[in-house]
Amino acid sequence: MNLLEARINLDAIAANTAKLKAKVAPAQLMCVVKADGYNHGAPEVAKVMQAAGADQFGVATFAEALALHQSGVQLPIMCWLWSPDQNVGEVLDAGITVAVASKSQVDAVLAHGRGKVVLKIDTGMHRSGVLQPQWGEIMQALASSPLEVTGLMSHFACADDLKSSATDEQIALFEQAIQQGRSLGLELPCNHIANSPAVLSRPDAYFQMVRPGIALYGCEPIQGHDHGLKPAMQWVAKVTVVKEIAAGDPVSYGHTWRAPHDGAIAIVPVGYADGLARAAQGHVEVSIAGKRFKQVGRVCMDQIVIFLGADDAGVQPGDEAVIFGPGGMSASDLAEALGTINYEIVCSPKGRTRRVYEQTHHQHAENQEQA
Ligand SMILES: Cc1ncc(COP(=O)(O)O)c(C=O)c1O
Repeated sequence: MNLLEARINLDAIAANTAKLKAKVAPAQLMCVVKADGYNHGAPEVAKVMQAAGADQFGVATFAEALALHQSGVQLPIMCWLWSPDQNVGEVLDAGITVAVASKSQVDAVLAHGRGKVVLKIDTGMHRSGVLQPQWGEIMQALASSPLEVTGLMSHFACADDLKSSATDEQIALFEQAIQQGRSLGLELPCNHIANSPAVLSRPDAYFQMVRPGIALYGCEPIQGHDHGLKPAMQWVAKVTVVKEIAAGDPVSYGHTWRAPHDGAIAIVPVGYADGLARAAQGHVEVSIAGKRFKQVGRVCMDQIVIFLGADDAGVQPGDEAVIFGPGGMSASDLAEALGTINYEIVCSPKGRTRRVYEQTHHQHAENQEQA
């Protein structure tokens, strides 16, 4: 293995995709693969999602949409994050659906005059999206244009909080907007608002399509719940050094930690340049052969130190140390320890991390070739 790997289990991606697809049918499934597939590799996961039941793909930026288009995926692609001074015509002409989230974005697509668009409305998230007072004017302008308006989209602010009434309010406003659009002459065949937590908890939010991201990668989107998703990413490093440490000896920059007794430490080659935040100090537990070991002292640019206890606990250089993922802390556990969310954890591995894909039937194929 490489010194530092993000192992991506494509079987898990396939299983999660199929699970969500079965859950939402007959609604369509748009798989969100923005941010390079939540850092799992967009072209690779998209191929697997396509085979496992995806109907469309969603990304944020034009660059992401064009790259995915060029990677050869067959399914429709939509993107929603852009500035009106960008070349929207190029994206529309590539057959990519573009979400319009403001008056100036609407003006830009009207000026181009052809292609597929989705109107992104603000139902309470108060991020991008057209506010209610402007809906009528914009819907009319789109209805009388040659553009194909495939539907409305919006985004939930609090769907992961099952007690929040915000989701009910957003659904009611979304329904109202669909009615208004249809009364103004828009057909709106495919409307969508549901992210992962809504897919798992709000069938009344499915409309004609859903737009999950994090659940496809096997991370639980509703804290404290377990929807049986299969984590797809495991961040693993190879132990470089195992050595003794004497009681009271300090470790790493600033000598912020001292060994409580004689024992052993191991060096794990991951640091803040690879996406393990320096502020993670003292909150991480690394797993080796199923045993958990505390990270101690400062997180360096390339390395962390773990305390093995009174002896080396059988740990040897070359052993695999799981930083998060199957066999170690889950992305959700690590997120909780670091005061963040599992989304940020899976987006973290970078720097010297090498991405490696694992897929059962490919392994079979390799084995057969060797045999
Ligand atoms: C517009 C939009 N739709 C859908 C998603 C998917 O959300 P989640 O990963 O929570 O399922 C995102 C991601 O934040 C998004 O920005």
